[in-house]
Amino acid sequence: MSPSGAVSLAVVGATGAVGQEMFSVLEQRRFPAGKVRAFASARSTGRTVAFNGTTLPVGELKADAFERDRFDIVLMSAGAKISREYAPRAVSAGAVVVDNSSAWRMDPGVPLVVPEVNAPDIRRHKGIIANPNCTAAILCVPLKPISDAFGLERIVVSTYQAVSGKGARAVAELEAQTRAWAAGQALPHNVWPYDMAFNVLAVDWKVAEDGTTEEEAKVMEETRKILGLPNLRISVTCVRVPVFRCHSESVNLQTRRKAAVAEVRRVLSGAPGVELLDDPRAGRFPRPKELAGSDPVYAGRIREDGSVENGLSLWVVGDQLRKGAALNAVQIAERLIQDGL
Ligand code: A2P
Repeated sequence: MSPSGAVSLAVVGATGAVGQEMFSVLEQRRFPAGKVRAFASARSTGRTVAFNGTTLPVGELKADAFERDRFDIVLMSAGAKISREYAPRAVSAGAVVVDNSSAWRMDPGVPLVVPEVNAPDIRRHKGIIANPNCTAAILCVPLKPISDAFGLERIVVSTYQAVSGKGARAVAELEAQTRAWAAGQALPHNVWPYDMAFNVLAVDWKVAEDGTTEEEAKVMEETRKILGLPNLRISVTCVRVPVFRCHSESVNLQTRRKAAVAEVRRVLSGAPGVELLDDPRAGRFPRPKELAGSDPVYAGRIREDGSVENGLSLWVVGDQLRKGAALNAVQIAERLIQDGL
């Protein structure tokens, strides 16, 4: 950190869907940035990104990027391969890395953090702090206060995930497919081998031998780690839907103690990072299209599930580029500064 208190910052993956969002979150939250550098692949040489009324040139990420320039904090969002290679380099050069990829999340020595849930874990970092999978991050924000108040026995989650979770090219393809459909033309297929427009994909991730997708495994493992409940029973089905932004999650859970709807509402309405939108008969329930670009995780449709003892259902929506990725990463960086770490 400079004597003025300004933080020198690098964003790796600056041209991607999450990288772009990071700049907008940093700007909106008046992050105390001094020197800021943007990095992406050689493909982006010559491009710029907008930040705080200026345009930053996008530099190619090269092996010596963190030796040529000194950074306090590096926000990485360029995929697991890049993180595995570059995060240790940035740490050796003296930076703290907040990494958005899956590379380090399940490493027992690396904290996996949603600040509203387990901010104290940041203190035990050894240079890298992992930013969770977007679906897990959004899920944990309302689960934490429910877990604290009533205890968790079992969770069943079905997701309705936006295409921006798959990157900037996926967003462009859904738009192109939608336009082509409206014009009566053949739909382009560069990202998906099938139509994403007007469709629902129950598989949009690598599938393991046992039929579980990579995304489902991440959500299950990471939720246990973030909540600090290694034995939590959790079952997840991840689905891609033709929505641009905001993941929605149908959450069914069994609590240890009886959780009356009014009590759950009370617990969630005071919880950090949660906003209650729960009056379905008056049209108040979380809808991804309207909530895109906002910071809270929204909870609604809270109702008892009489099919099991202490059963409860709710509907959760969060902007996965913000709370699920960029906002969460910037919040971690803010905590690092606040705690002098
Ligand atoms: P680029 O635009 O130059 O390919 P998304 O997930 O939205 O597709 O974004 C991925 C981000 O990761 C982009 O900024 C992309 O840059 C960046 N990236 C991909 N490969 C590399 C690489 N080899 N070196 C640096 N950045 C990379």
